[in-house]
Amino acid sequence: MTSNHLRTERLVIRPFAARDVEAHVDMMMDERAAAFLSPTGKPRSRAEEWRAAACYLGHWHIRGFGFFSVIDPQTDEWLGRVGPWMPEGWPGLECGWSICPDHWGKGYAPEAAVATIKWTFEKFPDLPRIISVIDPSNANSQAVAKKIGEEKTGEVFPFHDFSLDVWAADREDWLKQFA
Ligand SMILES: CC(C)(COP(=O)(O)OP(=O)(O)OC[C@H]1O[C@@H](n2cnc3c(N)ncnc32)[C@H](O)[C@@H]1OP(=O)(O)O)[C@@H](O)C(=O)NCCC(=O)NCCS
Repeated sequence: MTSNHLRTERLVIRPFAARDVEAHVDMMMDERAAAFLSPTGKPRSRAEEWRAAACYLGHWHIRGFGFFSVIDPQTDEWLGRVGPWMPEGWPGLECGWSICPDHWGKGYAPEAAVATIKWTFEKFPDLPRIISVIDPSNANSQAVAKKIGEEKTGEVFPFHDFSLDVWAADREDWLKQFA
C-alpha cells in the first residue's frame, strides 16, 4: 500500500491535518500568497480561510487523497501545502502548490511536487496525466511547473473571473524523467 508519509532530502510531507489549519490561514492572510489563490486576488477573512482549510481536509475524506503539508523536519515548521486535488468541476487531477512567502525561492514547491506526483501516479496506476491550473501572469508557479516537467497544453479553464492555463505532464514521460 502507498504510504501517505513521504520524505525527501529536506522535507517531511504528510497529509494536510487539523493541526495545520492555523498555519494555513496565516499563509493565506499574506497578500503575496493570496494574490493567485484567493478568488479576489486579495486576502480574505480568517473565517473564510478557515472554511477553505476545512474543504482541503474534507477533500481527503471524500476522495481519499488531497493536499499534503510540507514540514521542515529540523524545526517542525509548516512550510506550505502541495499535492493532488480534484474538486468537483475541476479539469483533471491537479498537483497544486503554495509555500509560505518567507520560504519562497528555496525550491521547496518543486521538491514536494515531485514527491507527491510520484505518490499520485503510484496510487492511481491508470491516471494518464497530471495537470496544474495556473494564472497566465503567475510566473513563480509557471517556473515550478517547468521544473517538474509540465508543459502548457493550450487548454484554458475558466474559474471565477480568471482564465487559467492548464499545464500537464503525461504519466509515462514523467515517470521516465522523475521516478
Ligand atoms: C509558486 C510557489 C509555490 C513557488 O514556490 P517556491 O518553493 O518558491 O518555488 P521555487 O523555489 O522553485 O521558485 C519558483 C520561482 O519563484 C521565483 N522566486 C524565487 N524566490 C522568490 C522570492 N523570494 N520572491 C518572489 N519570487 C521568487 C523565481 O522566479 C523562481 O523561479 P526560478 O527558480 O526559475 O528563478 C510560491 O511562489 C507560492 O506559494 N506562490 C503563491 C501561491 C501560488 O501562486 N500558488 C500556485 C497557484 S497555481
